Amino acid sequence: MAKPFYQLSTEEEYKKAYNKSVSNPEEFWDEIANTFQWRKKWDNVLNWNFSGPDINWFINGKLNITENCIDRHLKENADKTAIIWEPNEDGAPVKTYTYRQLHEEVNRFSNVLVNNGISKGDRVCIYLPMIPEAAFAMLACARVGAIHSVVFAGFSSRALSDRVQDAKAKMVITSDGLVRGKKKLLLRNIVAEALEDCTSVETVITIRHTGDKVETNHLDKWYHVELSKASPEFEAVEMDSEDELFILYTSGSTGKPKGVVHTCGGYMVYADYSFRNVFQYEGDDIFWCTADVGWITGHTYIVYGPLLAGATCLMFEGIPTYPEADRFWKVVEKHNVNEFYTAPTAIRALMACGDDLPDKYPMESLKVIGSVGEPINVEAWEWYNKHVGKHRAALVDTWWQTETGGIMISNLGNIGEHKPTHAGLPLPGIQPVLLTAEGDLMEENGKEGLLAIKFPWPSMIRTTWEDHERCKNVYFSTFKDHYFTGDGAKRDENGLYRIIGRVDDVINVSGHRLGTAEVENAINEHEHVIESAVVGFPHDIKGQGIYAFVICNEVLDENAYRAEIENKVSSIIGKIAKPDKIQFVTGLPKTRSGKIMRRILRKIADGSHDQLGDISTLLDPSVVDDIIKGKVN
Ligand code: WT7
Repeated sequence: MAKPFYQLSTEEEYKKAYNKSVSNPEEFWDEIANTFQWRKKWDNVLNWNFSGPDINWFINGKLNITENCIDRHLKENADKTAIIWEPNEDGAPVKTYTYRQLHEEVNRFSNVLVNNGISKGDRVCIYLPMIPEAAFAMLACARVGAIHSVVFAGFSSRALSDRVQDAKAKMVITSDGLVRGKKKLLLRNIVAEALEDCTSVETVITIRHTGDKVETNHLDKWYHVELSKASPEFEAVEMDSEDELFILYTSGSTGKPKGVVHTCGGYMVYADYSFRNVFQYEGDDIFWCTADVGWITGHTYIVYGPLLAGATCLMFEGIPTYPEADRFWKVVEKHNVNEFYTAPTAIRALMACGDDLPDKYPMESLKVIGSVGEPINVEAWEWYNKHVGKHRAALVDTWWQTETGGIMISNLGNIGEHKPTHAGLPLPGIQPVLLTAEGDLMEENGKEGLLAIKFPWPSMIRTTWEDHERCKNVYFSTFKDHYFTGDGAKRDENGLYRIIGRVDDVINVSGHRLGTAEVENAINEHEHVIESAVVGFPHDIKGQGIYAFVICNEVLDENAYRAEIENKVSSIIGKIAKPDKIQFVTGLPKTRSGKIMRRILRKIADGSHDQLGDISTLLDPSVVDDIIKGKVN
């Protein structure tokens, strides 16, 4: 497949594109957007202010993103493989879908949605394993103009229920069961529990995948039955550039997870643009992103980005350590994967399983290997580069967020300087700055500042679902006229960015984002808990672990309480939020105004008791001593 002009190949091209994107951003994006298939072109490229925020790209443009993901490839590439599905069981049948077959699957699924009362603007919640139908379901929603809200199938029924209710979803799409490694979950039963409080849901479509017997009720429709009645023809619904494409819930420092909203036109342009440039996809390359479709990485780099680019994308149902810890490398070899994209937590876990595992596989097909989700430490970077990339593939450390929709700062394949632990330069079109806490621009390099973006980009967050004020407060109020990322970062003398990590009360556990308040609220539901405080601490594999300081009205049996609290958190949020350490304490370090000083708890959690700093402003400094001594009652 021919490379479009905006897929940059050299440092010179990068510099030229970057300069143009800053000096004339509208022309820069206008030319790129012009290469897509629109029903009607836009009147102007961009209208924006960050104070609303009010951000509009490709104004009055009309399109359907799925015509760009699928239909436009049918002329020349109908028989090219779009999706390769590698199942959980090693050796079980692989499934593949060409673009022509994808077209038919998505059309039929679109008819299933419409036949069951879904129309433009309705919200559809998708709670599925990593099966091709997850991609078909997302695309079918987009094709009929419904707004999908994918919920990671590791979230508990409570977490699912909260998300369904917040979006007032009319339909839930799920499967009978899910398998990951040796674990099995009966998803339909989890949905049944979740739906007890969800009055908005009119239909549950269940895909038969594991064949397990599950609870069904009057809301249920089996996917295979509906499919047999559905026509393979469907005319995509016309959408405005700024119509919502999807909602994806993510955690913040306060309150419940918020629904980040992305819209059709801008997200489309940036998903394709960033995919092509970062991974340097070419010809018949096979691209593999190991994320789950429940996260933004799965949305942009399993479904939309690769399909927009007409790529062949591998989708994997299983886990890196099943049946053995060489599964990733085995799959790379089996399918001749050219671009491979995973998370530091997986790299660290596999690194601990021994060099001999990746060393058995030459992986000669690999050209680009990527990392995403959290800072990658130098040891993991070097190991990945040596044992997986064999010093031959380019390593891209990609920094971005659910809110940014696509990769913002990263090397582009093997273009430019690759420096361990540095994400690199911003993509053309992205204008990052480092600010001081007071909001002053930090122009000198080498110092840590707060990472903000001063100009809009097409795939940026537009709002948080039905709560625009929250969007404004969280992202656009810390600094005037800037989008604030919540991350701290440094820039070196060549302009390469190094991301240090979150500066707010968000912790990053195995690349999953959790709000400390969210975990505390779950812990506080235990009947004997009076108060709790959660902080992150360095963890060898997960990056950050969860450390919970908990005050109970009485602690009769520490071990039993610990287990109960763990269960509470697992059932309210999901297993990913289960604390690694729970310490029962008699008090928490608070200021005179009653604010918990997490800085002190973070020091205690990582064992630096001797570096607590000034604790004289505490209401009762003696609690610190009690915590260090391990006083419980
Ligand atoms: C947070 C966003 C975007 C995909 C997955 C996570 C951290 C993300 C990197 C990186 C250092 C990173 C940041 C960011 N993060 N990528 N390459 N280096 N930190 O999406 O759940 O929205 O989390 O993940 O702290 O703010 P997310």
